Amino acid sequence: MLTLYSNIKQLVQIEDNHEQKIHVKGNDMKYLPLLNDAWLLIEDDCIKDFGAMSEFPEHLTSDQTIDCEGQYILPTWCDSHTHLVFSHSREHEFVDRIQGLSYEQIAQKGGGILNSANRMHDISEDALFDLSLQRLHQVISMGTGAIEIKSGYGLNTAGELKMLRVIKRLKEQNLIPIKASFLAAHTYPIAYRENHEGYLKLIIEEMLPQVCDEGLADYMDVFCEKGFFNVDETDRLLTAAGRYGLKPKIHANQLYNSGGVQIGVKHQAISVDHLETMDDAEVACLQQSDTIPTLLPGAAFFLAMHYQPARKLIDANLPVALATDYNPGSCPSGNMNFILSLACTQMRMTPEEAINAATLNGAAAMEYQHQLGSIRRGKRANFIITKPMSSLAYLPYAFGESMIDKVIINGKRC
Ligand code: NIG
Ligand code: FE
Repeated sequence: MLTLYSNIKQLVQIEDNHEQKIHVKGNDMKYLPLLNDAWLLIEDDCIKDFGAMSEFPEHLTSDQTIDCEGQYILPTWCDSHTHLVFSHSREHEFVDRIQGLSYEQIAQKGGGILNSANRMHDISEDALFDLSLQRLHQVISMGTGAIEIKSGYGLNTAGELKMLRVIKRLKEQNLIPIKASFLAAHTYPIAYRENHEGYLKLIIEEMLPQVCDEGLADYMDVFCEKGFFNVDETDRLLTAAGRYGLKPKIHANQLYNSGGVQIGVKHQAISVDHLETMDDAEVACLQQSDTIPTLLPGAAFFLAMHYQPARKLIDANLPVALATDYNPGSCPSGNMNFILSLACTQMRMTPEEAINAATLNGAAAMEYQHQLGSIRRGKRANFIITKPMSSLAYLPYAFGESMIDKVIINGKRC
């Protein structure tokens, strides 16, 4: 089946070179390769060809043609950090925070991640799957075309396996590409508050072998943070995961300068995520690595914390990625469009930088750069068609308003 999209106002984030890009970094993030007045040809679920309308090939035929007058086409968002599998919302904590409690104080009272863990134990796998599938459909409708999802609300073997099995079932729906991260080290469960060694052993000796035996995880995640998992504990967990071939993608430097960036880089993490709290040493460490700094401004927004230093990281020639952190505690939204607006307004990223961070660099933060993240011949036909707009900058500018007309996944409208 050949589908032609014609008269596209701008075809954005194209890749035309023989050599494939792995990500975009530093100054290069300011540029978005694009074609004005373009056509795009899709064969089944793949990008077959594209070009300028002025050079439209005479003999090109298609089964259907869709006119995109005034509209922009760009790759779908690659959301490389989410906790989309959870059982209940936590708006009571949101109200507690409005009334003065901090995220950490709520966690110390047994709220936060522990609250979600309690609810996780009461819900059946089927009910959890149904809720998660609904959320997945919702984020796809907002333009997300690939996603990473973490466990981390189980905090015991049965709960973690339940979450990871749900993620596996979501993968099997074949909606969009999904990567799973194993995050048993999200917080110490109550039973192990005074026995950290016992919980580390449980993760390393009981959970990891089962998770890997069932092929349930692509990555290992640890919340490396003061009051959660320290650097030595993170080191042990990442070393153990490495023996099973699980690469790290970790939570680092959210609340404090935790040493998370350095330990992630030591273990060749695919990405280190959050990064609200960064010094020159962390930046220098990332410069010596292939690890992608992933910023989650939705969490900073929702917790009313300071934003991540995007400019500092881009100016240090790093390949910054953006993701939602969709979770019931610190960012109850999986809307990547809003994340782009926050990146521009709060972190002073340009619209071009934000789009690079949310497409190619997000794909790289899930090792999907060879199939997603740009409009390239042979890549998967996952793209967004916007409503007619005056310019591309209108997309992050018009925050709160959906500028998406259609989302195309595997060549089909969804
Ligand atoms: O990325 N910081 C750790 N984990 C999540 C929040 C989880 C929660 O509050 O439920 C985050 O912000
Ligand atoms: Fe997170």
